[in-house]
Amino acid sequence: MLLGALLSALAVLSSASPNRQLSGLLQKRSASISSGCDTSGTASCTNTTVIPNTCCFESPGGLLVLTQFWDVNPTTGPTNSWTIHGLWPDNCDSTYHENCDPSRDYTNIAALLTAQGASATLDFMQTYWKDINGNDEQLWEHEWATHGTCMSTLWPSCLPSGSPTGAEAVAFCQTVVRLFQNSDIYNGLANAGITPSTSATYSLSTLQSALKTAFGVTPALNCGSGSLNEVYIYFHLRGSVIDGTFDPIDAPVAGSCPSSGIRYPPKS
Ligand SMILES: *[C@@H]1O[C@H](CO)[C@@H](O)[C@H](O)[C@H]1NC(C)=O
Repeated sequence: MLLGALLSALAVLSSASPNRQLSGLLQKRSASISSGCDTSGTASCTNTTVIPNTCCFESPGGLLVLTQFWDVNPTTGPTNSWTIHGLWPDNCDSTYHENCDPSRDYTNIAALLTAQGASATLDFMQTYWKDINGNDEQLWEHEWATHGTCMSTLWPSCLPSGSPTGAEAVAFCQTVVRLFQNSDIYNGLANAGITPSTSATYSLSTLQSALKTAFGVTPALNCGSGSLNEVYIYFHLRGSVIDGTFDPIDAPVAGSCPSSGIRYPPKS
């Protein structure tokens, strides 16, 4: 009762002024389905024998890549935060599948989230999962159709019986948001004294070590015209994409940034 009142108060506050911490709290309330999978078993990509139940073991795309943008031209999202690009399954070896099930290319992700009790997730996405041309819904649909439909632990036959159509896409969005909330690149860099600047330049190793301190692993850093614009954080997964444990790992491949002279321009 009290908790309910507190959560509705938070919901009001949160919709008035989007805030990562508050939305994070709300996020926990809106988990839609649970997988029933054990999270103490073998991590994806690390098995040495065949694991038959790919509802609880992500395969073949067991290397999961959380990708985030730093968009400055045009800018997207808050000036003090990176934004979400997506979560991609890689076959543990830099090959990957895309567009695995056109029958599940849902055409209204926002409506699915609202209908399935995940409006807190949707609110968060509207602030932090931004398309560079302003078509956020189109980006979400693209990310789901291209990458989410390839995740074995999200096959419809893996969902609890009676799950509504699209429940796995809702779970996908919730997981992407959860991972993003735990991978705050802006503050990771800021804690090492690295904030957006029109004049400063950094070496790749300086940026990497700041992020290694923040996350315990080294991500891959991508640049466009010498400016940092995308970061990839890699994970192995124990259990399901719905509610499993994502173990961060060092990037298995280098990003495109040069070794020195890297800019990190402000969003303005
Ligand atoms: C790991 O498990 C997957 C899923 O069952 C299987 O396809 C793959 O061959 C296994 N890898 C090894 C090295 O046994």
